[in-house]
Amino acid sequence: MNIRNARPDDLMNMQHCNLLCLPENYQMKYYFYHGLSWPQLSYVAEDVKGKIVGYVLAKMEEDPEDSVPHGHITSLAVKRSHRRLGLAQKLMDQASRAMVECFGAKYVSLHVRKSNRAALHLYKNTLKFDIYEIEPKYYADGEDAYAMRRDLSEFIEKFGQLSLKTSGKGDSGSS
Ligand code: ACO
Repeated sequence: MNIRNARPDDLMNMQHCNLLCLPENYQMKYYFYHGLSWPQLSYVAEDVKGKIVGYVLAKMEEDPEDSVPHGHITSLAVKRSHRRLGLAQKLMDQASRAMVECFGAKYVSLHVRKSNRAALHLYKNTLKFDIYEIEPKYYADGEDAYAMRRDLSEFIEKFGQLSLKTSGKGDSGSS
């Protein structure tokens, strides 16, 4: 199993995986919006034959009311046949690391259905997201969402922001 950065030619297969796994689906143009605006942030898991078995679709949040740079997980799914192998955890960690390295993100946010036991377990227990607030009737069928956030300090300490590291190296090299 291989985890790698998503390419534009993966986007249709990511949409297919989304349709198989989740009731929240998006038009192709929304995948392209993510892929073209933040190509560093979305990842796929592929099997030995190169078939996509999972993905994370991610972006930076452009919220004018929140000046703290932060990422957002738009969608995450792993095909039934490949669950409980740690793929979702790896996809989420890769996306979070890229948010820190490429855009200086301080935290990452997402929405999840209150009834989604598996995803809630992954977010709360494994990835240490906290529930930030409840958004009533967030979903089209009227279900509430938990708005969750994960502090990315751990990634910031380990990986920092690439441009800062690069300029740091350059500075010390020239002095
Ligand atoms: N029940 C309880 N805990 C679970 C479950 C489950 N069914 N699945 C994962 N976990 C927890 C466990 O702690 C697990 O660790 P363990 O296997 O060592 O016990 C840990 O999460 C890591 O699990 P992964 O193997 O990384 O998760 P997986 O690759 O199976 O994917 C996912 C989890 C994405 C939730 C998958 O079940 C799925 O695709 N579900 C349908 C789509 C979905 O709900 N996506 C999230 C919607 S929210 C959003 O998109 C922002």
